[in-house]
Amino acid sequence: MNSGRGKGAKPGLGSSEKDDDTPFDGSGLKLKTVKTRRELNEVEFAAILRVTEKYLLSKPSPKIAPFNFDWLLGLHREMFGSIWSWAGEIRSTEKNIGVSPNIIAAELGVIAMEVDKRHHETGDLVFATAAEFHHRAVWVHPFEDGNGRWARLLANVWLMQHDQPATLWPATDLRDTESPIRDDYIAAIKAADSRNYGPLIDLHKKFSV
Ligand SMILES: Nc1ncnc2c1ncn2[C@@H]1O[C@H](COP(=O)(O)OP(=O)(O)OP(=O)(O)O)[C@@H](O)[C@H]1O
Ligand SMILES: [Mg+2]
Repeated sequence: MNSGRGKGAKPGLGSSEKDDDTPFDGSGLKLKTVKTRRELNEVEFAAILRVTEKYLLSKPSPKIAPFNFDWLLGLHREMFGSIWSWAGEIRSTEKNIGVSPNIIAAELGVIAMEVDKRHHETGDLVFATAAEFHHRAVWVHPFEDGNGRWARLLANVWLMQHDQPATLWPATDLRDTESPIRDDYIAAIKAADSRNYGPLIDLHKKFSV
């Protein structure tokens, strides 16, 4: 998708050698040494790995992952805050995906409220709830970029917090256009737009670790 930041670059679509080496317009980029899409992918991947380890090496307690409004934003800041100045901040521009900026905060509040109602769930229901939260999070699309990676980590924290295995998404963090499951993943997200969560639940289960 196009985050609206790049000129020639295609954020999130860095699969080819050409794209990897394409410089990009890094408004808000804190690391001035990063010049190419490939270098950006690498620093983002390393930063996200650290956060993934923090939350997923063992069962994440409700204390470290409370799924409240502040934590939802804070998780994105933890993932991208060393790289982007806008990390953890609600976007102020319209996107071709996502709700209007002026209702993002309210929609995140809805997710937090829904979480409260569903914390007691166990077993198979946990997968359904993880898929719903995953979809809801990308549907809201709160941030300038990184919404997919944030939503996938969110779902994994939920799964592990409720005693289910995390989902290990194939390929390079699902950012590779040639990922064998990228089309299925986007189709599953679109199906969930029509409240058909089956395909997204199936993908979570299929790639359970
Ligand atoms: N047509 C679509 N309808 C709904 N959601 C979509 C659509 N296309 C993409 N998405 C969601 O938006 C995410 C991409 O948003 P964004 O670029 O902010 O996240 P990212 O973490 O940078 O990308 P990626 O998910 O590719 O790693 C996708 O992962 C997917 O979940
Ligand atoms: Mg992106």
